[in-house]
Amino acid sequence: MAQRVALITGGGKRIGAATVSLLMDNNWFVIIHVRTSVSEAEEILQAFEQKNGAKAPAEILQADLNSDEELAELIQAVLKHEKVKSCGGLHALIHNASIYSSKDYEVVLLEELRLNNRLHLEVPFLLTQGLLKPLRSAQGCVIGMVDTSLGRAWKGLSHYTASKAGLRQLMMNLAGDLAPDIRVNCVAPGAIIAADWESEHFASLLEKIPLGRAGEPLDVAKAIMFLADSSYLSGQTINVDGGWSVSP
Ligand SMILES: NC(=O)c1ccc[n+]([C@@H]2O[C@H](COP(=O)([O-])OP(=O)(O)OC[C@H]3O[C@@H](n4cnc5c(N)ncnc54)[C@H](OP(=O)(O)O)[C@@H]3O)[C@@H](O)[C@H]2O)c1
Repeated sequence: MAQRVALITGGGKRIGAATVSLLMDNNWFVIIHVRTSVSEAEEILQAFEQKNGAKAPAEILQADLNSDEELAELIQAVLKHEKVKSCGGLHALIHNASIYSSKDYEVVLLEELRLNNRLHLEVPFLLTQGLLKPLRSAQGCVIGMVDTSLGRAWKGLSHYTASKAGLRQLMMNLAGDLAPDIRVNCVAPGAIIAADWESEHFASLLEKIPLGRAGEPLDVAKAIMFLADSSYLSGQTINVDGGWSVSP
């Protein structure tokens, strides 16, 4: 199969890094967006090169997505990218960049809600809009990284869960708006890798998961690649959560 091109936001570490490696192993060229994790992204490329003895099929682009200017520059860099032009467009756009913090609703600031909305909702809205042309020419797909919080109450996470619900609905709406040229889906990880502040809480969560353990970043990466490869899937969300979302 001819080489396909993906852009992943926040691809330098954790779930993003596992996704980059899996895509490269499967002959994708990956545009890896990072904000600060340049050296971590370079290590992914070095690991690929050591394993395969060949140059990694990837390029790292840096942008703070809170900045309108840097978001616009990222869009321009992807539109002009030599691989996007030579491979027939952009085959997958993965909205992975995220922030995650806990704060009681009584004290959480409007500024924090706005930052969550910016990264989880505004940026996917604007980035998808800016990249419609290469997505259309490749008959590509968009994948939003949401989570398993939808429809449930999570203490201290109102600012985060509300913004991820917005992303999920945006993706479902675009599955209709952008059809038939572009497929749009979501992946909803459960407990995969704890944030620094939640390691104790994370251990207690695992008791509620039917499969009895945390997932691996590779489990999530496989779901992303499955959606990218599945030409008749649109408007779907895959929960990668060990059965958590259906447990009582
Ligand atoms: N980890 C889990 O168990 C879990 C559970 C449920 C859902 N998810 C979802 O799955 C996805 C991946 O999870 P993760 O834990 O691997 O993500 P993460 O480490 O929390 O975040 C991914 C990347 O987002 C980037 N980012 C943050 N603020 C940014 C900004 N202003 N501009 C540009 N990039 C920014 C960071 O890039 P730099 O490092 O380059 O600064 C970071 O590495 C996320 O969307 C997350 O919500 C994860």
